[in-house]
Amino acid sequence: MDVERARNRMVDALRGAGRVRSAAVEEAFRAVPRHLFLPGLPAADAYADEAVAVQFTEGVATSSASQPSMMAIMLEQLGLRPGHRVLEIGAGTGYNAALMSRIVGPAGSVTAVDIDEELVDRAAVHLASAGVLGVDLVAADGAHGHPPGAPYDRIVLTVGSDDVRPEWVAQLAPGGRLLLPLAVRGSQLSVALDLGPDGVLRCDSVRSCAFIRLRGAAAGVDASRLLDGLGVALQTPDDAPEPDLEEVARALADPRERRAAPVPLGAVDVWDGFGLWLALTEPGACRLLAVEPETVLPDDLLRLGSTGGTVALADPADVPGLAAVVAAEPPGPGPVAVAVREFGPGGAALGARMLAALDGWAGAGRPGAADWRLTVVPAGVDAPTLPAPQVIVKRHCRVLAESPASSVVEP
Ligand SMILES: C[S@@+](CC[C@H](N)C(=O)[O-])C[C@H]1O[C@@H](n2cnc3c(N)ncnc32)[C@H](O)[C@@H]1O
Repeated sequence: MDVERARNRMVDALRGAGRVRSAAVEEAFRAVPRHLFLPGLPAADAYADEAVAVQFTEGVATSSASQPSMMAIMLEQLGLRPGHRVLEIGAGTGYNAALMSRIVGPAGSVTAVDIDEELVDRAAVHLASAGVLGVDLVAADGAHGHPPGAPYDRIVLTVGSDDVRPEWVAQLAPGGRLLLPLAVRGSQLSVALDLGPDGVLRCDSVRSCAFIRLRGAAAGVDASRLLDGLGVALQTPDDAPEPDLEEVARALADPRERRAAPVPLGAVDVWDGFGLWLALTEPGACRLLAVEPETVLPDDLLRLGSTGGTVALADPADVPGLAAVVAAEPPGPGPVAVAVREFGPGGAALGARMLAALDGWAGAGRPGAADWRLTVVPAGVDAPTLPAPQVIVKRHCRVLAESPASSVVEP
């Protein structure tokens, strides 16, 4: 296959789908040969709109060339200009660094850090074979940024983070932008954060994403816990009280009423549509994930979502119980009818709350990830706040999540 034709076809498709919007990003995708960053892969695969895993550790992907659609979305969010100084954390194959280097040009600079020395060596070979000069590759833990090159106009993580590290904020130039896939109550969101003179980072651009997570000093803990004997994991927000797993498992073994919900859900709604809404408006929101494909629970509880799982409500402060969104018909490509199943003695009250939340979400126009405005307040910085469920307390910052309907409360 003619690689140039394949590349142009990929870029045409990215443009047609609205992923590539600016001339600068389009030019970079047309100019940089992705296949040279994925040696050994047939050209048809190198120019497919797919992520390609390039490294596995104990069967789990620890590095990949990201999906071109997602890269385009993030490059548009990043708003690079010629002359910008850029730090990338998660160099991987070096392809994204090459695209960014093309956009910032010889007056700018790109430093790309990866925690894995072998990947950095391979990225250097890829960049050389593509004739890309001017990318500074560093083998280091990006948790600490890269102080020698600071300040940066843009810092971009192409690896998921649970928090906003003070090092990254400190290494941003005044008015600089930090773009990262950030864990927000069970969703991962690509957020473009602009550093204000008051030390607060404000974001007008949020997108859904699903990146490999950081290793090293900033590695997060896995927030999902296996429920004994059910083949199901419970995922609660890391700023929520410790769940009583035995109580949740007991409730799930006690299915009760099932109430039809008037709001159909599509796969993406389960996570970053209604799921995100629930997580940011209800303190007891949690998610149930299938960990074994053969898991069978009442109502095919886990047949929702893209990976098999659903959203639920379990308020540890109330009577033990749980309410979960269940599929009312076999999941299809579009939105499907859903119901709310109540479990355990506290299920009825939680089911009523879940139905009210579904109504609230539908009434607000079914907002998705892109409809939320996020503000990151680093630890030690004073700023107006929001009602409790919309404030996510992390170790190094508070994340304030504003839906179009929410109001800021003075502290
Ligand atoms: C999705 S890949 C990045 C893809 C890359 N941008 C490209 O264009 O090929 C994520 C990368 O983050 C790296 N990574 C994980 N933890 C890291 C850390 N603490 N510091 C720097 N890189 C890290 C992984 O080794 C992996 O290569």
